[in-house]
Amino acid sequence: MRYLSGIQPSGTPHLGNYFGAMRQHVARQALGECFFFIADLHALTTVHDAAAMRAYTRELATDYLAVGIDPERAVFFRQSDVPEVPELTWILSTVTPMGLLERCHSYKDKVAKGIEASHGLFAYPVLMAADILIYDSHRVPVGEDQIQHVEVTRDIAGYFNRAYGEILVLPEHEVEPTTRLVPGVDGKKMSKSYGNTLEMFAPEKELKKRVMAITTDSKAVGEPKDPEGNTIFQLYRLMASPQETEAMAERFREGGYGYGDAKKELLAKILDHFAPYRRRREELLSDPARVEAVLRDGARRARAVARATLDRVRKAVGLE
Ligand code: ADP
Ligand code: TRP
Repeated sequence: MRYLSGIQPSGTPHLGNYFGAMRQHVARQALGECFFFIADLHALTTVHDAAAMRAYTRELATDYLAVGIDPERAVFFRQSDVPEVPELTWILSTVTPMGLLERCHSYKDKVAKGIEASHGLFAYPVLMAADILIYDSHRVPVGEDQIQHVEVTRDIAGYFNRAYGEILVLPEHEVEPTTRLVPGVDGKKMSKSYGNTLEMFAPEKELKKRVMAITTDSKAVGEPKDPEGNTIFQLYRLMASPQETEAMAERFREGGYGYGDAKKELLAKILDHFAPYRRRREELLSDPARVEAVLRDGARRARAVARATLDRVRKAVGLE
């Protein structure tokens, strides 16, 4: 079983990225062969600042390794270090109907948010299809918002195979039902673009400020509260044991438990959960050459697989 997934370096990683993507990737390492990458070519559709691009890429690579990507077990690399991918993207784009891309929600959502409607943004799912298909990936663990892109990938592979024979492997998406949606400090989906994130590696003081800013209703300390509709509880349960989760739910239902106290417990839980990763991150930050070496070695291993698929494709379409 081969797993593959990517994350865009388009900002500082937050709890939504961790629970919705990074943690799932780390867990897959025990289950099969893994390919994980930093989708810098995709990030170019929204980040048009070279210094920011470099900084986000370095930061994401460091954070990804800190939370448990093990380069001994997974092939960990930078998308742009595999030039076979953009070549495959072009070939795939010649069998991709316009209508397929026109139906993609992600493109429409991004344009609605004010991102420039460039050709790259429109063709984004074809690049993603090339990422997935070039490694003959079987399973693609993603967040809910990316399911459609994996389906588009299967469609594109289908069009290609119907035209040229059974060359490409059709992948399947995998979504962790427990972490479909991590709420942000305002209760809406946590997202960089909503400015409502909790960044797990922010300095302690900053993280505290953000946790204290979580919006709640105006129920007094003494009143009983419903844990289910409550952002503090939704976040706490992601890190707490079942017993701890039930204990907090009980305290809310009983009353006499204020949101301020609950926020303090949540903050302590986040700090505790990420403490070992924070230490590993510090070590990695002091040795950027090591992170770069990991990415380069990953690219070498990824390219070997990518080259073989691209050769198969080039032959199939008559370029060789
Ligand atoms: P953002 O919305 O902050 O721009 P991205 O779209 O770059 O985040 O998401 C990167 C990965 O993290 C995706 O796989 C996505 O599904 C996951 N993810 C992002 N935000 C959340 C969230 N609030 N809940 C669950 N998963 C999330
Ligand atoms: N589009 C994905 C996201 O925004 C990132 C990504 C790029 C990806 N290529 C991929 C994810 C291939 C899975 C497989 O989160």
